[in-house]
Amino acid sequence: MGITKGTTIRPAQGKLGVLLPGLGAVATTFIAGVEAVRKGLAKPIGSLTQMGTIRLGKRTENRVPRIADFVPLASLDDLVFAAWDIFPDDAYQSAVTAGVLSKEDLERVRPLLESVRPMPGVFDPAYVKKLHGTHVKSGRSKMDLAEQLIDDIRRFQREAGTDRCVAIWCGSTEVYREPTAVHASLSAFEKGLHENDEHIAPSAIYAYACIRAGVPYANGAPNLSVDFPALIELARRQGVPIAGKDFKTGQTLMKTILAPGLKARALGLLGWYSTNILGNRDGEVLDDPESFKSKEVSKLGVLEHILQPHLYPDLYKDFCHVVRINYYPPRGDNKEGWDNIDIFGWMGYPMQIKIDFLCRDSILAAPIVLDLTLLLDLAQRAGMYGIQEWLSFYFKSPMTAPGLYPEHDLFIQLMKLKNTLRYLRGEELITHLGAEYYD
Ligand SMILES: NC(=O)c1ccc[n+]([C@@H]2O[C@H](COP(=O)([O-])OP(=O)(O)OC[C@H]3O[C@@H](n4cnc5c(N)ncnc54)[C@H](O)[C@@H]3O)[C@@H](O)[C@H]2O)c1
Repeated sequence: MGITKGTTIRPAQGKLGVLLPGLGAVATTFIAGVEAVRKGLAKPIGSLTQMGTIRLGKRTENRVPRIADFVPLASLDDLVFAAWDIFPDDAYQSAVTAGVLSKEDLERVRPLLESVRPMPGVFDPAYVKKLHGTHVKSGRSKMDLAEQLIDDIRRFQREAGTDRCVAIWCGSTEVYREPTAVHASLSAFEKGLHENDEHIAPSAIYAYACIRAGVPYANGAPNLSVDFPALIELARRQGVPIAGKDFKTGQTLMKTILAPGLKARALGLLGWYSTNILGNRDGEVLDDPESFKSKEVSKLGVLEHILQPHLYPDLYKDFCHVVRINYYPPRGDNKEGWDNIDIFGWMGYPMQIKIDFLCRDSILAAPIVLDLTLLLDLAQRAGMYGIQEWLSFYFKSPMTAPGLYPEHDLFIQLMKLKNTLRYLRGEELITHLGAEYYD
């Protein structure tokens, strides 16, 4: 990831462009929220970079700055937005359709939302079967489409007067695909772009274009997009930070909060049954079994990695883990996620935990988009490139170096993130040993 202790970080001068492939519920809730915060109408709740603090040195030193004051992040006032979508609705219309925010809240930020009009998207219905995009680019080859995206980025940079941008994929979840030969190296991938290889998904074309344009890229959905050797190679070569995949919100967030606690107390698990009802466009897309498969794979890995059955066979061998998502239009974005957790304790006695999380998907995802934008921009200014595993905190299915299992425990992820910031600023890492207080 290219990190150097106490490195010089280029200052966050001027505007920071935020490029959003996919201008739906999450993207519009993010933009509306940033504008509401800028106007003093809301607080950035849920954003670690804006609300969180970081302890430095010993507990007795009382040095606990806000993260935003500790590392040189771009100011919210400097964010400018651009998006691509396969429908022409501006961010205001799209937010109205998404139905996440109230009419009153949207009216207060309407001028900015109306000014974000999506550029035509790169789309292939084979990858998102439930949508029929009307606002799409055409080109001779997938490489030609990538070049058009790069032209879009350059034009936006000129018009917005910025050379710094970050891209966060907020587009629909594409169908599940394993990496193939075309994903294995940059040369194979570029050849595939020229030859219109069917295994190259639209999201991967965006990722390729962004990285080539020097723009850090994070993937908020579970499909591959940037998570394969060819683009990891390109990111390293271009000196661009990348991260993914699948924003950690809702049920999986709860899982990665609770499962480490059960394991910490050596409580056993027989089974974890999770089901959701969801009625937004994301829910509609996930109603297609192939798109759901991408999500299912992303959601299922979490418990296995946290509970480590191979190390704790008496507690976690063969636990049953089921995840369901049901499209149920009346709920819109206000998802309901139920978990039934069958655990066992002393002498094997069974117990149950039930969670009923009435959450709001995009309300949980929007601050993640903000933090990823600011932290990826910071990483780039600090000379970091390639996979940014310290941003695992934000993802259901974190990208890691080849052969390395992902860390899913939210608390370890948080420690990793904060230690990375301390390291960047040349501060001591915190181990929580605390022996010095008793010497
Ligand atoms: N909200 C959450 O809590 C959450 C959590 C994890 C992941 N995600 C993922 O984030 C993504 C966005 O979620 P959402 O609720 O905003 O969905 P949404 O359906 O409201 O928005 C997605 C947008 O992407 C557009 N789109 C689809 N394919 C595109 C393409 N090739 N190019 C450009 N635009 C394209 C769609 O037209 C739509 O406007 C989804 O993939 C979802 O699975 C969301």
